[in-house]
Amino acid sequence: MFRSLRDDGAEAPRPEVTLAVDGEPCTVPSGATVAAALLQRGSIARLTARSGSARAPYCMMGICFDCLVEIDGVPNRQACMVVAEPGMDVRCQDGHRRVGLEPAR
Ligand code: FES
Repeated sequence: MFRSLRDDGAEAPRPEVTLAVDGEPCTVPSGATVAAALLQRGSIARLTARSGSARAPYCMMGICFDCLVEIDGVPNRQACMVVAEPGMDVRCQDGHRRVGLEPAR
């Protein structure tokens, strides 16, 4: 829909960014969200606090909160609302969410 075209009318190559998801490199098109990176890798975003069930991005528009991850050490970030940037460190959240400076379990 919004393709970048070169002067000759050919589609311009889209730049990519590489981030780390649970320590593994993941490359996505520039402008993609962290949730898109998770889905591309087939990664889960979090494990629920009560049952430990796996959750992954679902609504992709900030409604369901199933995409909560830790990004660069900051927990509870909605992966679908954050654009992937080079060098980001994205981690799956396991169990209870940490609030403030509360230590992880
Ligand atoms: S995927 Fe639903 S809030 Fe992010």
